[in-house]
Amino acid sequence: MLTVAVLISGTGSNLRALLEAAASSAFPARVIVVGADREASGLGHAEEFGIPSFVVPWRGADQREAWGEELDRQLEVWGPDLIVLSGLMRLLPAGVVARWSPRLINTHPAYLPEFPGAHAVRDAIAAGATRTGASVIVVDDGIDTGPILAQERVEIAPGDDESALHERIKPVERRLLIDVVRRVATGELNLDLTASV
Ligand code: GRF
Repeated sequence: MLTVAVLISGTGSNLRALLEAAASSAFPARVIVVGADREASGLGHAEEFGIPSFVVPWRGADQREAWGEELDRQLEVWGPDLIVLSGLMRLLPAGVVARWSPRLINTHPAYLPEFPGAHAVRDAIAAGATRTGASVIVVDDGIDTGPILAQERVEIAPGDDESALHERIKPVERRLLIDVVRRVATGELNLDLTASV
């Protein structure tokens, strides 16, 4: 059974989808802990599903290294087979990436390498794109530059605002994420073979 830690900053809708999938005995992975960089509303999903959680409060970019060291200490306590960033709005310090990647994956609301970074949905609309997408990647020490594990196109409807488009992208992200976790758990997807060449 693959053990998974999920790190969030926001509402955790992708986390919830993973918790719901893992609640099925047929799913080959289980979420063992949820972490956040603040008292994110998504922590409520962990509580509802009886999953332990922790918060390592973000204290500013000048404290990034110390924040990363505390986050790493928390993760070492649990020793997950896989760490999923799903809405964590922080760049992990290089030491944390080096410790856990490639068993460290991220969901992103764009069709990478298009629109990397924290404002992917807004950027796609601003660019006048007619389609964007969702991606699941291995976290490397760049910004959304790691190996792509899964991705799918999402059309941008005329008049789409950021919120409407993001809510249409998220279900695709969730489906891709759950499938990637399942494939890692069954050995169908070997993350160790995805390391950037
Ligand atoms: C997701 O689209 C994720 O890819 C992005 O932020 C959003 C988080 O949504 N980084 P939620 O917190 O899972 O609802």
